[in-house]
Amino acid sequence: MEILKINISGPLRGSVRVPGDKSISHRAVMLGAIAEGTSRVSGFLAGEDSVNTARALAAMGVEIEGLGGTELVINGVGLHGLKAPGGALDLGNSGTSIRLLSGLLAGRGFGAVLTGDQYLRKRPMTRIVKPLSMMGAMISGQGEKNYPPLEIKPCGGIKGIDYSSPISSAQVKSAVLLAGLYADGTTTVTEPMKSRDHTERMLKHMGADLKEDGLSVSVTGGGRLVARDFMVPGDLSSAAFLMVAAAIVPGSKVTIKDVGINPTRTGIIDILRLMNAHITVDNVRNDGPEPIADITVEYSRLGGTDICGELFLRAIDEFPIICIAAAAAKGVTVIRDAAELRVKESDRIAAMAGELSKIGVKVAETPDGMIIHGGTIRAAEVDSHGDHRVAMSLAVAGLIAEGGESRLTGGMIINDTENIKTSFPGFVESLQSLQN
Ligand code: S3P
Repeated sequence: MEILKINISGPLRGSVRVPGDKSISHRAVMLGAIAEGTSRVSGFLAGEDSVNTARALAAMGVEIEGLGGTELVINGVGLHGLKAPGGALDLGNSGTSIRLLSGLLAGRGFGAVLTGDQYLRKRPMTRIVKPLSMMGAMISGQGEKNYPPLEIKPCGGIKGIDYSSPISSAQVKSAVLLAGLYADGTTTVTEPMKSRDHTERMLKHMGADLKEDGLSVSVTGGGRLVARDFMVPGDLSSAAFLMVAAAIVPGSKVTIKDVGINPTRTGIIDILRLMNAHITVDNVRNDGPEPIADITVEYSRLGGTDICGELFLRAIDEFPIICIAAAAAKGVTVIRDAAELRVKESDRIAAMAGELSKIGVKVAETPDGMIIHGGTIRAAEVDSHGDHRVAMSLAVAGLIAEGGESRLTGGMIINDTENIKTSFPGFVESLQSLQN
């Protein structure tokens, strides 16, 4: 088991880049695989989650040059060119891989089994099994909640549906839209609030017949996708750890360059500003379908805030690091409408409540969120719960953690941190590069 020790830090200063966006990397390789022609993808996230997606596509006959690195050349096989995989597709820890690939593979003439690690095998798949079954796909998982492994049986074709999703989930929306590329007629997905829209942007960029109308997105089957070269922006969800680090370590000023600022993802910027953080967003530009910018964060004394509804959805993956910002802030932070966090890589509400208590923070868990009383963070021995974002958040807390038990000689000890590489390879080195 990998263990990380983080000591209290001096000011963080300088500029860094973060690895490519995880959500966009998954989509770039999936859509490049089923496009016609060759796509060159730069800035691909060479983290385990997105590499698992690429490996799965390679196992279905897609030639991908540079696999394991950040520059990929994907030789698209066209919408109907994927081949039956030789064995089960192991998607490791990645919920995005299993849900989006299920959409891509539903209703094919060949079958597939999709599985993952011990954490993924505890995540509910009914949310995609239900709409894909309505389209005529034969897909099922284990038990009432359709846990992985998921089995997709060969079938003669699927039909378009008009699906009102009970949850705002980009994974559900994307799975249904990807299946819709193969369906007879038009497939429409409507969600209660707008989740991240990377699939829609990229599908349009590649020539799919896609229409958006408020909270509804429709795609018509039977078209084709055209290969496009593509640069993956830096992942704002990874930048968030460095942003909060700069906001809470006195004397810091950090710039993160070339980060994606898709408005469905920028809740962390809005939330930190509500907490009195000093953030500037410069050099805003569009590179392909996604907006990009440089983000600078300066230390300031943070205050508590209320987070719910759409604001929370736009920062859904940032909950663990928002907890650390709240713990370092003066006053109370209330997080609501966050029940989805119970079915992420870990039960993030329970995991963060437990670990915050260990580091001396007063916290109350609620069914759909948390109430955090800001104050002093104390060094302790903590655990990632197998969750990369919990691990990195606790590491950031370590930068300002005081005291601790004597046997720890003052540092924060985080157990089980090898998972950090699922989304942010080079996280520790990035932090170190700012400690000059
Ligand atoms: C993702 C969507 C979100 C997010 C996850 C990545 C995606 O999940 O939490 O990390 O790439 O589509 P949900 O769609 O389940 O909310």
